[in-house]
Amino acid sequence: MPAAELCPESYRFLQNMVYRESGIVLDGDKRYLLEARLTPIVQQLRLGDLNDLCAMLGRPLDHAVLKRQVVEAMTTNETFFFRDSAQYDALRSVVIPSLIAQRQDTRKMSFWSAASSSGQEAYSLAMMLLEMGLGDWRIRIEGTDLSTQMAERASNGRYLQIEVNRGLPIAYLVKYFTRMGLEWQLKDEARRMVDFSTCDLRQSMSARGPFDVVFCRNVLIYFDVESKRKILDQLHGTLFRGGYLLLGGSETTLNLTDRFERKVFGQTVFYQVS
Ligand SMILES: C[S@@+](CC[C@H](N)C(=O)[O-])C[C@H]1O[C@@H](n2cnc3c(N)ncnc32)[C@H](O)[C@@H]1O
Repeated sequence: MPAAELCPESYRFLQNMVYRESGIVLDGDKRYLLEARLTPIVQQLRLGDLNDLCAMLGRPLDHAVLKRQVVEAMTTNETFFFRDSAQYDALRSVVIPSLIAQRQDTRKMSFWSAASSSGQEAYSLAMMLLEMGLGDWRIRIEGTDLSTQMAERASNGRYLQIEVNRGLPIAYLVKYFTRMGLEWQLKDEARRMVDFSTCDLRQSMSARGPFDVVFCRNVLIYFDVESKRKILDQLHGTLFRGGYLLLGGSETTLNLTDRFERKVFGQTVFYQVS
């Protein structure tokens, strides 16, 4: 028997739950997305359809684990190595050299990849810093994501062929990875520079930082204006004076906050704390 369509009440139930637990806004008609992402959970639980899943989640029992699984399934984890390469170019040619000059006494730098997904963003940075000869500096890179599953994957530092084919220069693959069956394992030299954990960007960030550079790329697009404002204001507080925030290609601080100064580096824009 074909599965029943997601009814309007179930749709609203899932929309509200995903928003409450992650800040992700499922606007318009995202029925197809809910069905594509949640059908595997329905099958795993041997339920009839998505309406049954909603009925189960709506019962007054503690379904914390299942709720988590549903919310994580609704996150979009698309990422790849050296995504938006103009930003890495600007870091390599302007920002990091300036930090090297300023930090000769402490030889310390700190970075945050604030929606790190499966880790490619943070590890691209780690490899770039190693290539710049900073292996003996005290570099701290934090990678965090809402998704526990993604944070665990990222910690493993293991990638499929299809993932290393995306954005990673072949010379880096040869130098920083070891082949393990069908996968590629990032070597310890780069892996130990990054610590991954879970963090919901809507929670307080008062205990985080201070960082020299924060990457918060391709995640604000999923939030409403109010959440974006709150997150940007909080991120401002995690940066050193003079530190930089990096956003995704389609994201901006415009009409959200005027606390950052817009700096153009070649083809890209960084947001600086002045
Ligand atoms: C499209 S990926 C971006 C990955 C990487 N920053 C990049 O640009 O390639 C978006 C990530 O944001 C995470 N995310 C969604 N809502 C979040 C929240 N409230 N707090 C922290 N991370 C969140 C998702 O789990 C997902 O891994």
